[in-house]
Amino acid sequence: MRKMNVLLTGGAGYIGSHVAILLIEKGHSVTIIDSLITGNKRLVPKKAKLFVCDIADKKKVSQIVKQQKFDLVMHFAGLIRVDESIKKPKKYINFNFEKTKIFLNICFNNKIDKLIFSSTASVYGKSNKGKVSENDKKVPGNPYALSKLKTEKFIINKSKKILINYIILRYFNVAGADMKYRSGLISKYSSHLIKVICEVVIGKRKKLIINGNDYDTRDGTPVRDYIHISDLAQMHYICAKNLINKNHSNIFNCGYGRGFSVKNVVSTFNKILGYQINAQIGKRRPGDCEKIIANTQKFKKYFKWKPKYNNLNIIIKTALNWEKKIRQYK
Ligand SMILES: NC(=O)c1ccc[n+]([C@@H]2O[C@H](COP(=O)([O-])OP(=O)(O)OC[C@H]3O[C@@H](n4cnc5c(N)ncnc54)[C@H](O)[C@@H]3O)[C@@H](O)[C@H]2O)c1
Repeated sequence: MRKMNVLLTGGAGYIGSHVAILLIEKGHSVTIIDSLITGNKRLVPKKAKLFVCDIADKKKVSQIVKQQKFDLVMHFAGLIRVDESIKKPKKYINFNFEKTKIFLNICFNNKIDKLIFSSTASVYGKSNKGKVSENDKKVPGNPYALSKLKTEKFIINKSKKILINYIILRYFNVAGADMKYRSGLISKYSSHLIKVICEVVIGKRKKLIINGNDYDTRDGTPVRDYIHISDLAQMHYICAKNLINKNHSNIFNCGYGRGFSVKNVVSTFNKILGYQINAQIGKRRPGDCEKIIANTQKFKKYFKWKPKYNNLNIIIKTALNWEKKIRQYK
């Protein structure tokens, strides 16, 4: 396939950096816009061009998009903490929705007509059935999820008025690290379960608090669908190629279609480590739902795709090795 020139926001972050690495590995060009508000320069691949700037900085973003012809934009930049969004809802609507509107309008006005957008499984909210499908009802249960759903709607409405094509990807719980450890999750305030346990293992945190054991699940703890970051990066690459070759818009879930409870994850860690991590039952966390698992048939059928790392052990081992690697950074 011909070389793609990709504009990628949030490339100093966890997911954006993995996708940037993959694109560069496949011979494509990547230009990153990242304000470094939560990102880290270390994660930006050397061959990518980095502009440290806010996505809503009209002047700078206009300059960047006018400098070269981009084939598509991948928009990862955003704030991701559900707990913070509950305390500061306006901040989340501003960062994830209002700023994205400004940014995407600049892109669209400058003839970038293909877009991949990072959405989230949390747009579905509380799901009482087994697996959620793309067309299921959306009931965002917190301001973070709402900010993403509003952005999805903005993109879909825009595509009805102007000639653009998009793929919206709804990520379930992303975890693990690059198999060559070129990137992984660096975050001061992560609330992601696997990250938090890794920090307990290396001694950065004293213990894991299990947020609630009175949910209506098999062992009482919340159930999530964990997807390895490298499979997720591959899904983006597949979507990018598809957008370049076909003028089709679409929405896909990104998960593996099977759930693990918090206790399942803890016991897998314990088996890998050969000892019990320090864990304690605490209160439920506001905004959490009991269970969310992806129906993954749409992506698998559409692209005839099979994941490579659908294994909780691999997810945990790569996350742990990455955590050990970045210990020396601090
Ligand atoms: N990590 C997950 O499990 C998960 C799940 C569902 C959806 N998502 C979505 O995926 C995207 C990437 O998430 P991540 O885990 O890599 O987060 P991250 O915090 O590691 O990366 C986000 C990046 O965006 C940058 N950024 C934020 N606001 C910006 C702004 N206004 N201008 C320029 N740069 C800005 C940050 O500096 C950071 O580098 C987010 O949109 C998030 O909502 C993530």
